Amino acid sequence: VAILLLTDPQPSAPFREALARLAPGESILTDLETARARARDVEAIVLWRLEPGIASLFPRLKMLCASAGGVDKIMACTDRPAGLPVTRTIDADQNLQIAQFVAMMVLRHARRLALYEGQAQRKQWRRHPTPAASAITVGLLGLGASGQAVAAGLKALGMTVMGWSRTAREVPGVECHSGAQGLARMLPRSDVLVCLLPLTPQTSGLLGRDLFEQLPRGAFVVNVARGALLREHDLAAAVRSGQLAGAALDVQSREPLPPEDPLWDVPGVLVTPHIASLPAPDVVVAQVLENLARVRVGLAPLRQVDEQRGY
Ligand SMILES: NC(=O)c1ccc[n+]([C@@H]2O[C@H](COP(=O)([O-])OP(=O)(O)OC[C@H]3O[C@@H](n4cnc5c(N)ncnc54)[C@H](OP(=O)(O)O)[C@@H]3O)[C@@H](O)[C@H]2O)c1
Repeated sequence: VAILLLTDPQPSAPFREALARLAPGESILTDLETARARARDVEAIVLWRLEPGIASLFPRLKMLCASAGGVDKIMACTDRPAGLPVTRTIDADQNLQIAQFVAMMVLRHARRLALYEGQAQRKQWRRHPTPAASAITVGLLGLGASGQAVAAGLKALGMTVMGWSRTAREVPGVECHSGAQGLARMLPRSDVLVCLLPLTPQTSGLLGRDLFEQLPRGAFVVNVARGALLREHDLAAAVRSGQLAGAALDVQSREPLPPEDPLWDVPGVLVTPHIASLPAPDVVVAQVLENLARVRVGLAPLRQVDEQRGY
């Protein structure tokens, strides 16, 4: 039996090394040609994206294991076999990294770091008013594993935190909202809006003109979820009109974002190359092995994606 690594665009070597260390007895395949030749051995695929025509090659495949927290590029595959479990990775350290990244971007905006960096380049020593952290209200779209870590980080910095989820949630110290009405209540009070939603047919394109217009004028947007949640053209227009002060976009609709993309040139928008957090290969592999042990004895895997919800 074998585990197939299709982690591209992440390199497979760190996952292979982690597997060799944590489960020396397991057979590991890293290229499709070898895997085709041993099709009946493949029990699990560790992957970022599922291309059409792949899953059906392996008659004994027991599960698809996402090498990250997001599963959109697996769930969207048109010929994904019905009933084949998809699992995701939940890594506490990764969520802490996202919390750090969001805090850094919110503080960079609130404490006007880009302005001071520009001044420093001109050797200009000039102070500007800074809002107190307690005057900043952050709206979080998504109150899952990463959303809750982000909420804890921002609260520790003294900000007021609100959150929005699909189902009603209770998170200590966070004003929680859900459903369409909850979103409409939260948006007009969000000085900063942070997106931590999974990309599903329901959430795709949610961050567009209608939503931006409901934010207070001069709000700031942080997207650390998936690029397709946000309509980039609408965002650029909202920033240029002054409705938004700017945005920090760690994810984009096209990755890598090509140099000619107009998003790079929108003043106040900072594009980063999907680096808010990276899953630790050891954690991914440990969770795959835990689930492999379960499915081999007929148990359902843990951290399984709900087919109906799509996350
Ligand atoms: N940039 C990065 O480095 C990076 C790293 C990790 C993850 N991510 C992205 O962040 C996403 C979220 O990760 P997570 O671990 O926090 O996911 P999660 O634990 O599954 O939480 C998702 C949250 O979004 C809410 N939600 C889902 N669909 C919704 C809808 N239609 N309307 C309102 N709320 C909805 C869920 O509501 P319920 O609570 O009601 O279920 C939940 O609160 C991932 O899917 C991934 O794409 C990015």
